[in-house]
Amino acid sequence: MAIDNRIDQKKLPKHVAVIMDGNGRWAKQRGKLRTFGHNKGVKAVRETVECAAEMGIEHLTLYAFSTENWNRPQREINALMTLLVKTINKETKTLNDNNIRLNAIGDLKSLPKSCLKELNEAIENTKGNTRMTLTLALSYSSRWELVEAVKTIAINVKTGKLDVDSIDESVVDDHLCTLGIPDPELLIRTSGEQRISNFLLWQIAYAELYFTDKLWPDFDRHDFEAAIIDYQGRERRFGKISEQVSA
Ligand code: IPE
Ligand code: IPE
Ligand code: MG
Repeated sequence: MAIDNRIDQKKLPKHVAVIMDGNGRWAKQRGKLRTFGHNKGVKAVRETVECAAEMGIEHLTLYAFSTENWNRPQREINALMTLLVKTINKETKTLNDNNIRLNAIGDLKSLPKSCLKELNEAIENTKGNTRMTLTLALSYSSRWELVEAVKTIAINVKTGKLDVDSIDESVVDDHLCTLGIPDPELLIRTSGEQRISNFLLWQIAYAELYFTDKLWPDFDRHDFEAAIIDYQGRERRFGKISEQVSA
């Protein structure tokens, strides 16, 4: 499908991150179980991934399950994990057809074995793809990630591998799960909630934030394009003044 002609292909963000929120409310509005909303959300994932890849976005990161989501009712967790396995299994071929590499960040060892196995297989099967990297944040939280990074850095200092004075932003970057992935320039959250919910706190230091009231299962390629158009209309100053940026 053609990309909206209001989008400037030369000013695309390299990395877009998405907090996919609102599946439960979407289902509730229809008198259905929350799980119904999660199932419907898969279509929005597919559409967003395809649209981002067609547009030329290099990195798309989707927040699929947070560390805090382990506190949900066990039935919902089980349904989400089953959906995850099923979806990854079903979509690997499409990822390959579209030259998309799958990646995952988070406390992956806490996922059920079957999930981890499916995930690792899909990552392995798509590792040669180069058009876009799709990163799923699974059992992810930013504070977890930062604590892990601090621990590793501390061990490296203690064992003499790292000098305290050499610790800078790039050293921290190198110890995050997003190593090698540029910071997102744009963060989208659906469902009307305007919060970050422990997602990529370090990496979004200068991201543009885009909130939409659309619930995730209703989010489609036009919504994704609308977010990109909005982003392209913003002035990113990085602390400077407008005249410096436009010069
Ligand atoms: C997002 O939808 C999916 C996950 C967090 C796994 P929710 O399940 O949070 O839906 P709401 O926010 O309750 O509507
Ligand atoms: C954030 O959504 C996590 C994901 C989208 C995976 P939540 O629905 O869990 O966030 P809160 O609890 O409303 O902040
Ligand atoms: Mg939610």
